[in-house]
Amino acid sequence: MKSQDELGVSVPANKPLVVRTIKKVTKEQREYALKKTEYSMFSFPADLIYVDFLSDSGSGAMTDFQWAALFHGDESYARNKGYYVLLEAVRDTFERGDNPKKSINLILSGETNVKKLMDELYITSYEGGFVNGGIHQLTRPNGFIVPQGRCAEHLLFSTVATILKKKNKDITNYIPNNGHFDTTEANIVANGIQAVNLFSENLMDDFPFDEMDSRNPFKGNMDIKKLENLIQDKGVESIPLIYVTITNNTAAGQPVSMKNIKEVNKIAEKYDIPLFFDACRFSENANFIKEFEDGYNDRSIQSIIQEMFSYVDGFTISFKKDGLANIGGGLFFRDKGLFHKKFSVGEDIGIALKEKQILTFGNDSYGGMSGRDIMALAAGLYEIVKELYLNERKTQVREFAKKLAQNGIPVILPAGGHAVYLNMDKFFEGTDMKIDDFGGVGFTIELLKHYGIRAVELGPFAFEWDKKTPEQQKGILNLVRFAMPRNVYNASHIDYAVAAITELYQNKDKIPKVKISRGAELRLRHFQTGLQPIYKN
Ligand code: F0G
Repeated sequence: MKSQDELGVSVPANKPLVVRTIKKVTKEQREYALKKTEYSMFSFPADLIYVDFLSDSGSGAMTDFQWAALFHGDESYARNKGYYVLLEAVRDTFERGDNPKKSINLILSGETNVKKLMDELYITSYEGGFVNGGIHQLTRPNGFIVPQGRCAEHLLFSTVATILKKKNKDITNYIPNNGHFDTTEANIVANGIQAVNLFSENLMDDFPFDEMDSRNPFKGNMDIKKLENLIQDKGVESIPLIYVTITNNTAAGQPVSMKNIKEVNKIAEKYDIPLFFDACRFSENANFIKEFEDGYNDRSIQSIIQEMFSYVDGFTISFKKDGLANIGGGLFFRDKGLFHKKFSVGEDIGIALKEKQILTFGNDSYGGMSGRDIMALAAGLYEIVKELYLNERKTQVREFAKKLAQNGIPVILPAGGHAVYLNMDKFFEGTDMKIDDFGGVGFTIELLKHYGIRAVELGPFAFEWDKKTPEQQKGILNLVRFAMPRNVYNASHIDYAVAAITELYQNKDKIPKVKISRGAELRLRHFQTGLQPIYKN
């Protein structure tokens, strides 16, 4: 008899206790709403949508453990108790591997032993890791809570850029990444630094859908040859940081292998450049390493995360993804590490960052988050390392991709961790759709209009193809993304989406080209511009 793990399907990881009903909306009503909102995916009312794959960011359902923790939220203006719980949860998650302290239980169990609370939580001293505690947190701050990932990016890159200008204002700086997310790139560029994508060469290689359970080519990796070439070509002094995004959202949500992380780390060490993670989906990445990389199968998710983070000097993170929380982000760097050493010019970089954090988001113990959100996030960090949860999520995304591939839809394979991506160059093969006709946008408009399903183009429209140099255009992939909110959808939502996407694929010659009707010159235009589909008669 097969064991529970050998049945070829994932063991159920949860059961919904609250449901939200969906309204029946007609195609004509959606068509009217689309017209009135300039055909922008970001402007369409979510309440009129059946299945919303726009983003996995902040759109997940929290667990009962998180909702219970939320009630312990403390809205004091300074040093709310959740702050201490969150710092401990961050240490548990990224540094302590199989030996977490779980100090959150002191609060959830109503501990009244004040000495214990002070020793283990409130007055505890901590240094040498990603979040100093006690007096070290005051003299050398290195952990910063903010409302979301891009706030951390803003804090980091605006501060770093000022210091770089102080060091040498005449050179152009470059930050390489295995795939910059759009806000990361925008925050880097807004501060006068160039953002470079070093995608893995095998990214667009074909992959058989029936091998997704048996191997994974880690297409999210950074191309390390290109990294070394860039450093030698531009000069070490022009590369202030190296970034690795786990999983690689811009490169179809593909995971990064531990081997690749180690290789990048070696290069970073060789040239004395601080290495950072964009850590948005770290636990999903760890689960790919566990499943597919030699030597990790018997390791716990916690210990794999600990090893991954041992290779970096710091990270920015949006906790709205893997944190399973609806809001939250952070910037963390190693106490007295390379980043701290290199960027503490004249004053401690942590003090400079804290000043900016207070100016823009709020004092360091809430950073623009409510005490309730802080508690829900801290609890979430313990939920997302659970293997049943991670496996069910991974299987759900994989099944979605498999069903599309079985219907002949050009989906990027293997499936990434949080989303399924269609290759729109292949999708429109055999039609007269050109790259600057924004066919991917036309597809998302039709999918929303006919079937009430929202996805998003991440291609020539989102990444502003027409504003880029031919060299930069090479770094733009032509994709449409279906991101999976955590713990929200089940097989019926996926089957509905697969049927709808297949129907559109079979009618691809009817998908309209799209023109920008307003604001083509706006920055971050995929959130801002008006669109007009051009229907053939
Ligand atoms: N980095 C990556 C890899 C991301 O995917 C995101 C957000 C961010 C940074 C910024 O985080 O939204 O909290 O400010 N990605 C979302 C998405 C928006 O839909 O992929 P944020």
